[in-house]
Amino acid sequence: MASNGNDPKPPVECVLVTGGAGYVGSHTVVKLLEGGYDVVVVDNMSNCTQNEKTSQPESLLRAQALTGRRLTFYGVDINDEAALDAVFKKASFTTHSVDCVLHFAALKSVSESCQIPMTYYRNNVAGTLALVKVMTDNNVKRAVYSSSSTVYGTPQCLPLDEGHPTGQGCTNPYGKSKFMVEEMFKDLCSADKCWRVISLRYFNPVGAHESGRLGEDPLDTPNNLMPYVAQVAVGRRPKLRVYGDDYPTSDGTGVRDYIHIDDLAEGHLRALERMFSAGLDGFRPYNLGTGKGHSVLEVVQAFSEACGKKIPYEIAPRREGDIAASYCDASLAKRDLGWAAKKDLKEMCKFL
Ligand SMILES: NC(=O)c1ccc[n+]([C@@H]2O[C@H](COP(=O)([O-])OP(=O)(O)OC[C@H]3O[C@@H](n4cnc5c(N)ncnc54)[C@H](O)[C@@H]3O)[C@@H](O)[C@H]2O)c1
Repeated sequence: MASNGNDPKPPVECVLVTGGAGYVGSHTVVKLLEGGYDVVVVDNMSNCTQNEKTSQPESLLRAQALTGRRLTFYGVDINDEAALDAVFKKASFTTHSVDCVLHFAALKSVSESCQIPMTYYRNNVAGTLALVKVMTDNNVKRAVYSSSSTVYGTPQCLPLDEGHPTGQGCTNPYGKSKFMVEEMFKDLCSADKCWRVISLRYFNPVGAHESGRLGEDPLDTPNNLMPYVAQVAVGRRPKLRVYGDDYPTSDGTGVRDYIHIDDLAEGHLRALERMFSAGLDGFRPYNLGTGKGHSVLEVVQAFSEACGKKIPYEIAPRREGDIAASYCDASLAKRDLGWAAKKDLKEMCKFL
């Protein structure tokens, strides 16, 4: 990490980021580069746009252009243990050895995971097993894991805090894969006290970098509300389908806790800093959300105001497996990580 010459030696210098070319990963990479960390990215490019000339992920070229700093990129799949091991070894020869891994790499579509569950378990669960093996072989025992509010399943009470049961009512293979990986990390941390894992349970990440140069641009049909709304606004799709208007919420549409991508990325930096301080040992889950719920129609309204266009939508029947409302209690992250979301829904709708 960068030093002004007077600071004590920082504990983390080099961070390996799996899935760093993706939506959340690339925004976090920008923050890491800005923070002076050496960054090594591993991504198999299964869900990112490649630059036509260089074949590198476009997001990472932009992250470097935005920050004026370089990173090291490897087009490697985390399931490929030999290639992954070589990445850790090369890092120790060329820059600093890896101090910590930020683990974003995963497939993330709920609907796709129901169609090809084994692909999801192989990629998300077996991929994490391969990563943990290589990390252990290279004596790297610190990880920040991209988890999800889906681990809570159907909320038994709101707001969701970290003490809420997990794994019960996880209805789809994607959510189950996130839960299984958390369980694996829990067992690993209790078996080997040298391991520390911070599991960040994201609520609903939205928005884009303030430069407008980075954002969520899914290769296929968007699975999430905001990118879908954005595609309707620019005419790529005719209208939004709102699934259900008869939920027990203020306007009958589903309520979620949206979090700006910039706040989310910042949460990873706080986790990284605290990871090495005393006290945060073992497996630690934290909610990253604003703690406020917004309905689908509130989001549509805020987005219309931000872009100055009406967003056409139609009401469709509820989707199986969808829940009425989900929002978190984010006070634990504030207490332990010194992190709290700053941006509101209006800001989330800018630069999409
Ligand atoms: N975006 C969300 O709404 C959301 C919510 C909760 C949790 N998460 C979690 O956050 C993480 C990042 O999500 P995202 O929205 O940035 O997704 P994304 O698809 O934009 O990014 C994931 C990246 O991982 C890469 N990848 C996938 N499998 C890989 C493998 N086997 N080896 C190497 N690279 C691989 C993809 O190419 C992609 O660049 C995921 O773990 C996801 O489950 C995301």
